[in-house]
Amino acid sequence: MTLIMNMADEDKMNNCDRVTGFRNIVVLTGSGISAESGLATFRDSGGLWAKYRIEDVATPEAFTRDPSLVQDFYNMRREELGKVAPNKAHYALAELEAELDGKVMVVTQNVDDLHERAGSKNLLHMHGELAKARCLSCGSVLSWRESINPHDRCTDCGLHDCLRPHIVWFGEIPLYLNEIDEALNEADLFISIGTSGSVYPAAGLVAAARALDIHTVEINMEPSDGQHFFHEGHYGPAGEMVPNFVNALLGR
Ligand code: OAD
Repeated sequence: MTLIMNMADEDKMNNCDRVTGFRNIVVLTGSGISAESGLATFRDSGGLWAKYRIEDVATPEAFTRDPSLVQDFYNMRREELGKVAPNKAHYALAELEAELDGKVMVVTQNVDDLHERAGSKNLLHMHGELAKARCLSCGSVLSWRESINPHDRCTDCGLHDCLRPHIVWFGEIPLYLNEIDEALNEADLFISIGTSGSVYPAAGLVAAARALDIHTVEINMEPSDGQHFFHEGHYGPAGEMVPNFVNALLGR
């Protein structure tokens, strides 16, 4: 386990004193928080983008060109959800939300449902959700835990061959940007967990937090691309590092 501090010594002391004083926390999570549950990350060796090309499975153009290839990719990933469970990091964040004398908002880039299954309530899925389908005809977003197939009908408008995964693809605008902005404007602590910081606008949230004078903490297996933006970095597996940090925040 490595702890890297990017602050001046005096600031370090101030922030050690402040570790239990935060009242409004925004947590950004990425695929690294679900790795110990058994879900693949994207850019690690053996990650999803080493096996699939983004242009083939994660763009609107790919869906127009070859809808079954795209549906198969997300059907497979939706099926995986039934075989995995939240890990200690997901549970620690749910505990933080329940026990902090203040507000915790989890903003996740993950399309899995492990945060909600661990008990997080204040949660925004900025890249969409595997367990939902969206109707291309009427726009309804439907709870959808099975495979999406061409003969499936939208339960709202009744049309068939019109459902797509409720996933934000490359070239599309992430969800809840206003809500994320509002949460950040109220926050006094920003924590980034398990993300390489490669995809915007999520990767830019740390710079936005710094501009708002919010204390910033990175918890990741290794320093991310945006490492220099963080006041503090805690490096190691999320299942170990997140519960430790949450315990410190809750003054345990
Ligand atoms: P990446 O694969 O880019 O990064 C995962 C990060 O998690 C890496 O920095 C790893 O070092 C770290 N990591 C791996 N295992 C870990 C563990 N056990 N504990 C802590 N950290 C660990 O995945 P994301 O940053 O989530 O978007 O990728 C962001 C977006 O890119 C995804 O939401 C997805 C992808 O393309 C879309 O599909 C729109």
